[in-house]
Amino acid sequence: MFVSPTASQAAKIARNVCRIATFLAPAILWLACLQRSLSQTQQTGPGKFQIDSQRLQSTLEKLSEFGKNPEGGVTRLGFSETELAAREYVIRLMKQAGLQVRVDPAGNIFGLRPGSDKLPTLLFGSHIDSVLHGGNFDGALGSLGAIEVIRALNDRGVKTRHPLEVVIWTNEEGNHFGLTTLGSGVAAGQLGPEILDRKDDQGLTLADWLRRYGQDPARLTDARIPPGTLAAFVELHIEQGPNLEENKIPIGVVQGIVGLKRWMCVASGFANHAGTTPMNRRKDALAAASREVLAVRDVVRAEPGRQVGTVGFVKVEPGAVNVIPGRAEFPVELRDLDTAVIDRMWQRIQEKFKAIDQEENVQTTCTPLDDAEPASADPVVKNAIYAAAKSLGFATMDLPSGAVQDAQKMAKIAPMGMIFVPSRGGISHSPKEFTSWPDAANGVEVLYGAILVLDAQLNPR
Ligand code: GLV
Ligand code: MN
Ligand code: MN
Repeated sequence: MFVSPTASQAAKIARNVCRIATFLAPAILWLACLQRSLSQTQQTGPGKFQIDSQRLQSTLEKLSEFGKNPEGGVTRLGFSETELAAREYVIRLMKQAGLQVRVDPAGNIFGLRPGSDKLPTLLFGSHIDSVLHGGNFDGALGSLGAIEVIRALNDRGVKTRHPLEVVIWTNEEGNHFGLTTLGSGVAAGQLGPEILDRKDDQGLTLADWLRRYGQDPARLTDARIPPGTLAAFVELHIEQGPNLEENKIPIGVVQGIVGLKRWMCVASGFANHAGTTPMNRRKDALAAASREVLAVRDVVRAEPGRQVGTVGFVKVEPGAVNVIPGRAEFPVELRDLDTAVIDRMWQRIQEKFKAIDQEENVQTTCTPLDDAEPASADPVVKNAIYAAAKSLGFATMDLPSGAVQDAQKMAKIAPMGMIFVPSRGGISHSPKEFTSWPDAANGVEVLYGAILVLDAQLNPR
């Protein structure tokens, strides 16, 4: 039997319905936005895949010509003639894709695709410089993948509400000037004119190089991106580690990026005759440095965790077969997701260096070279990446980034997220670095989808 509610019961029911609706409204709105952006992703082309993987491959292969090494990879150091030529190639590609290109005073290359509304910019891209004897995918995939996203949007006539901007950051690797993520560091306001006098191994200063890039070093700080002007920053990158490949997962969603600190250390001894100087009267800088290299490794290994420490080279002077080394210069690099762990390890390393110096009759001094804080990915950007991957049927895996990234610097001024794709054998910073073309294309598809999801979700009308 149906009993009609009394007037007061009806009012109570209406109030409850309103309460539930108020509670559910944002979630319903979010789902509607997501549905709209994903169906836009799926409807804007044949099938659900949007990008031209062949075009992506051919531009990446062309980029690999700049600085090509006989072993197959590239040496395309930031601030080198080779990189300068590669930059010109990439600028041409950006212009062909219809982007409005500008280069900021730190040498960062931006290509703008205006949006329909007056909104903050959705920025995405990576870097095209490499390490010494590096590979063809680190930075290159995220850079040319970003340009491919623009071409795919153009092909399908997709308009976005937010302006979209592709960025190619300057000197991410930092093999020149010892400063990693240089361009994004300046853009985020973390590096300034104090870096201009740093010299590369040819004796050229950073200011000299910026002039070669057509920039006025005195205007370096004009490269700062004012807070609030970016809706988000998204970077596609190869994983550079083994996790995705080992677990057969095509897409990694970065949760956080490690922090890093670097110092340049000089062990000073005394150069003397190798045949006539008794063993107990030597001040052998290389002997001390060698023990110090091992001390770095011992300290880093002494506690459980994912922290790492590296001495990447030792430069010895005078470097003759019959002369005791008088000077040994070496960098120390420490990385972890927690700055306190890095600081604790450095404290212990310094204590060990002191003891070694006393025993070897040498003096070691270390000066700070670089400092990159750990960064967390933004939940909204991560969700856009999960949603885009899901719409394409890709499984995802949450991962940290053990490599430093330009995205790390961007996290200071914008919500940041990163997409990883598998690296064969977990190898990177090597000519053997490789990502299969289908895996590379999958990453670009996810970037494409994530940009559209963010465009729909951020700054709702
Ligand atoms: C750059 O890729 C770094 O992690 O050093
Ligand atoms: Mn990189
Ligand atoms: Mn790298």
